[in-house]
Amino acid sequence: MTFRDQASPHPSPYAMGYSKEFLGLLARRNAETVAVHLLPHLRPGMKVLDCGCGPGTISVGLAKAVAPGDLHGVDIEASQIAMAQAAAQAGGHGNARFQVSDATNLPFADNTFDVVHCHAVLMHVLNLDQVLAEVKRVLKPDGLLSARESVLEAYVFEPDPQGLLKQTTDTFAKLLTTNGGHPHLGKALKSVLLEAGFRTVRATASFEPFSKEEDRIFLQGFIRNWFFAPKMKDPTIQYGLATENDFAAWGEALDAWRADPGGFAAFAWGEVIAHQA
Ligand SMILES: C[S@@+](CC[C@H](N)C(=O)[O-])C[C@H]1O[C@@H](n2cnc3c(N)ncnc32)[C@H](O)[C@@H]1O
Repeated sequence: MTFRDQASPHPSPYAMGYSKEFLGLLARRNAETVAVHLLPHLRPGMKVLDCGCGPGTISVGLAKAVAPGDLHGVDIEASQIAMAQAAAQAGGHGNARFQVSDATNLPFADNTFDVVHCHAVLMHVLNLDQVLAEVKRVLKPDGLLSARESVLEAYVFEPDPQGLLKQTTDTFAKLLTTNGGHPHLGKALKSVLLEAGFRTVRATASFEPFSKEEDRIFLQGFIRNWFFAPKMKDPTIQYGLATENDFAAWGEALDAWRADPGGFAAFAWGEVIAHQA
């Protein structure tokens, strides 16, 4: 049994959940900040799929960039599709439509899309090969895959005098691996996609910084209220990856980091633009 079995009622291995704390992290994203590698490739009239679109905060920016073309968003979770639909409606993006679907079995004909975009999705799927085969199938012959995934081993916390914050992210990475995920996929996207048959792959990397006081407060609250909450903490302890004492020590280190005016952290990401053929 993996922790998804007890954590999620969904058929997918995705176990980050849909709590308000986790959605708070997603709400900070938009196409202008997290699809920088993709936006120069988008043109009005294109047909784009946002695969694993979540609450649609990125999708609406992609819809704007390709209008009057079409933006389709799919996600395995109905509540996320409802949020994405509401975001598109609120923003007046009449060219965006969303539906519940599993990325391993996309409800689109072959050769449908100019671009398929995946943000923080491939790192969570068990059957990466199957998802990439589906992406290739629905892409037009000259289509592009855009992906951006975490490199958890390169996350930065400063100061971290005893390495406790590094230990926190390393432990979270182990939990993701236990669940069948790929916590460092961002650094391997280029080789994985070449192996999957994409012709050329342009790989870049970026950091998501947490420096301003409001960002440090957000990150400390996010880790405490999400990763330290029972849904994530219990399986971490149950699988022998950490103890209650570890969590207590990490919490103290996190609070000290937040209170330090010199505190800085950054999430590391790898991103790619891959040509289908
Ligand atoms: C970390 S969230 C990222 C959401 C969005 N792309 C973003 O970055 O804001 C991952 C999303 O992928 C969805 N997901 C996970 N596995 C999936 C699958 N097999 N098919 C479709 N969606 C999936 C989850 O429901 C979740 O909404």
